[in-house]
Amino acid sequence: MSTPKILAFAGSLRADSYNKKLVKIAAKGAETAGAQVTYLDLRDYPLPVFDEDLERAEGMPANGRAIKDLMLAHDGWLLACPEYNSSITAALKNTIDWASRKEAGEVPLQCFAGKAACLMAASPGALGGLRGLVVVRMLLANIQMIVLPDQIAIPQAMNAFSPDGTLADAKKNADVLKLGEKLTHFLAKFKG
Ligand SMILES: Cc1cc2nc3c(=O)[nH]c(=O)nc-3n(C[C@H](O)[C@H](O)[C@H](O)COP(=O)(O)O)c2cc1C
Repeated sequence: MSTPKILAFAGSLRADSYNKKLVKIAAKGAETAGAQVTYLDLRDYPLPVFDEDLERAEGMPANGRAIKDLMLAHDGWLLACPEYNSSITAALKNTIDWASRKEAGEVPLQCFAGKAACLMAASPGALGGLRGLVVVRMLLANIQMIVLPDQIAIPQAMNAFSPDGTLADAKKNADVLKLGEKLTHFLAKFKG
C-alpha cells in the first residue's frame, strides 16, 4: 500500500486566517494516520484574475503551473474555505480556474479528476461557513473530485483557537484531527 499524499490548504490569503489554522489541525490528523502532507499557502502563489485574453497572450503563469504540479503530485486535498457572501472565496475559485486550464499533454481536469477532498470551514459567524461549503462541494464534484461526506464548520472562530493553534474545544479538535485521518484511510483504500 503506497503512502497517501495530501495537499492541505485554505481558500484564504489572509496571514492570520482561521481557515489556515483549521486545515493545519486536519493535516496533523492525516500525518498521524500515515499520510504525507504538503501544506500550501495560496498567498505564496499570487495569481492574476483569470482572463482568457491574458492566457492567450502570456500563457499559464508560473505560479499557476506550480500549483498544478502540486495538485498533480498529490492524491487528495484537505481544504478549509472561508465563506464569502454565502459562497466560495475569489482566491479559491481563481486558483481552480487557472488550474483547470488544459496544457499540452494533459487530459481535461487532470489536476482534479479522481482525487478526493475533505472540506472544512471556520467563520466568526454562527454557521461557521457552512453555506460556503455547499458551493465548494458542488464545484469540486463538478470537476470530477470525490468529496467525502464528512465536513466540519467552526462558528465563532475568533474565540475558537488556542494560542498553540489547536481548537479550545477538545472534542472539536479531535473531530478535525479525525477528518484528516478519514481522508488518509479513504485514500489508502482507494489507491490500494
Ligand atoms: C467579502 C467578505 C464576505 C464575507 N461573507 C461572509 C459570509 O457570507 N458568511 C460568513 O460566515 N462570514 C463572511 N465573511 C467573514 C469571514 O468569515 C471572515 O473574514 C473570516 O475570517 C475569513 O476567513 P479567514 O480567517 O480564513 O481568512 C466575509 C468576509 C469578507 C471579507
